[in-house]
Amino acid sequence: MARKADEPLVLGIETSCDETGVGIVRGHTLLADAVASSVDEHARFGGVVPEVASRAHLEAMVPTIQRALKEAGVSAKDLDGIAVTAGPGLAGALLVGVSAAKAYAYALGKPLYGVNHLASHICVDQLEHGPLPEPTMALLVSGGHSSLLLAPDITSDVRPLGSTIDDAAGEAFDKVARVLNLGFPGGPVIDRYAREGNPDAIRFPRGLTGSRDPIYDFSFSGLKTAVARWIEAKRAAGEEVPVADVAASFQEAVVDVLTRKAVRACKDEGVDHLMIGGGVAANTRLRAMAQRRCEDAGITLRVPRPKLCTDNGAMVAALGAEMVARGRAASSWDLSADSSLPVTETHVPAEVDDHGHAHGHGHSRDHDHVHELSKKNLYEA
Ligand code: KG4
Ligand code: ZN
Repeated sequence: MARKADEPLVLGIETSCDETGVGIVRGHTLLADAVASSVDEHARFGGVVPEVASRAHLEAMVPTIQRALKEAGVSAKDLDGIAVTAGPGLAGALLVGVSAAKAYAYALGKPLYGVNHLASHICVDQLEHGPLPEPTMALLVSGGHSSLLLAPDITSDVRPLGSTIDDAAGEAFDKVARVLNLGFPGGPVIDRYAREGNPDAIRFPRGLTGSRDPIYDFSFSGLKTAVARWIEAKRAAGEEVPVADVAASFQEAVVDVLTRKAVRACKDEGVDHLMIGGGVAANTRLRAMAQRRCEDAGITLRVPRPKLCTDNGAMVAALGAEMVARGRAASSWDLSADSSLPVTETHVPAEVDDHGHAHGHGHSRDHDHVHELSKKNLYEA
């Protein structure tokens, strides 16, 4: 095994939504995880406002990078690479991170790795529980995504088995919290209320669990509507809404479906490890139910600590370090943000021409071009 000092030292930048995250890792070791969130600025709108997020990223970027370097106790010149979320996410927000990563990578003469946000949510668990088994089954549940992914190689081969056909799991938490007037984001506050409530108080529907439904797809829109109707009926009858019971019963419906389908996928594919990632993986009840159901099925569960489940830069650095360790191709200087980057594209390598030359990257540095591009992106963001 490689000595610690030989493992790649990578800085990762995450700006796909409302968190400006900068993480630094050495191989599978977390050295720094600096996050500046603009969530409070969005709260009064009940959701993330893209322009507000982009501006906040711009303001937070340099201080957050400096904070991460200080926390890690490393010098930027010792980095082996700079990784950045290239997508999916909010276009303007992603552009700020991509532009910053290009500027730092170029100025420092380091390779640049544009990586996939979703693959990063999976890869981050290497910082917590060591190398990912190959293949790993991953349940990815966040504000924008709910998917079951089979990952034979997190740097190059991630296969979607199923995903939500309407709302993401986190989105359902956020919407139900809004109906209950609990504020934004809804996940953490519903999680808290649910602890005081009875999960069996109300039997809410479990989407796409019928015998003819797609086995690995999810649907949370019907559940959200059922919860909203139930609350409306209570209010119309002049009765008090039992917030804790509604929160617990709604959460139980989401968690029941997520864990049931994830365990089923592991069994069907003969995979004995399940990884859960994304913001919703911070949910207490999801973690507990997944633990129990995995134990019953002989599956080893891996869930990172809550701070590594929600968006952060360490996850991007973790995937970047794995790209370096496995000798994956770096990105070119014309790397751009792709708001709908498919999960199958674990990273955005430079295109290699017929002569085996990577385009626009490495030694052929077009200084003015990069500089203008970064400036342009920063202004547009
Ligand atoms: O991964 P993430 O930080 O950002 C996206 O990529 O979307 O996930 C944010 C989502 C939000 O919808 C938030 O309500 C949800 O994760 N979330 C939770 C919890 N903490 C965050 N959902 C349920 N329970 C939680 N404890
Ligand atoms: Zn995320």
